[in-house]
Amino acid sequence: MGRKLRHVLIFLLIILKEPDNQITTIPAGAFENLPKLNKLQLSNNQINTTDPGAFKNLPILELLSLDNNQITTILAGAFANLPNLMQLTLHNNQITTILAGAFANLPNLRHLTLNKNQITTIPSGAFANLPNLIQLTLHNNQITTIPAGAFANLPNLRHLTLNNNQITTTDPGAFKNLPPLKRFTISRNKMSAIPLSIFCLFPSDITIELDGNPWQCDCRMAPISVNTFS
Ligand SMILES: *[C@@H]1O[C@H](CO)[C@@H](O)[C@H](O)[C@H]1NC(C)=O
Repeated sequence: MGRKLRHVLIFLLIILKEPDNQITTIPAGAFENLPKLNKLQLSNNQINTTDPGAFKNLPILELLSLDNNQITTILAGAFANLPNLMQLTLHNNQITTILAGAFANLPNLRHLTLNKNQITTIPSGAFANLPNLIQLTLHNNQITTIPAGAFANLPNLRHLTLNNNQITTTDPGAFKNLPPLKRFTISRNKMSAIPLSIFCLFPSDITIELDGNPWQCDCRMAPISVNTFS
């Protein structure tokens, strides 16, 4: 295929951005016959439901944006079979629940954006099988606890943001098997203590943001007060 033709075919962008769009549901197979689609922009609608298979047969899709909608639940397999998806953004929805397997079968996903939702818990396995995930954005939710294994099996994760949640306790196992993070932010939560063992699990060149928590700075917290708040 000639270079020009290839360039023409590479970008097919659907933009449904007008404020009065009233799309509420993406049915299974909605975009099925668009094998050249590589960006799908569905932000600023009233979407509250994405049926399983809604995005099936989009072999080269790289960007799927569902920001500013009304999605409440991410079902298992909601985004299955998107072999080239690199960026999935769900900023500013009403997501309360992420079911295990919600993001399964996304072998190339690099950026997953879930900030400004109503997520309260992260089930174990919520982010399983995302071998290339670099950035996981979970700030401005209602997360209260991080269960053990929440972020296991993310070998390429570098940026994890959990600021502006309601996190009170963190199971030390939550960060077991974590990859070498570059940046970890858990500012403006409700943490009064952090299991010190967590710090042994992080690489030494990490940037950690812990401000805006009601820390009880007694001797158990000494390594944090010396190293992190300076
Ligand atoms: C989605 O929105 C439509 C239209 O407002 C409504 O009829 C439907 O019940 C909603 N579905 C869910 C799952 O909230």
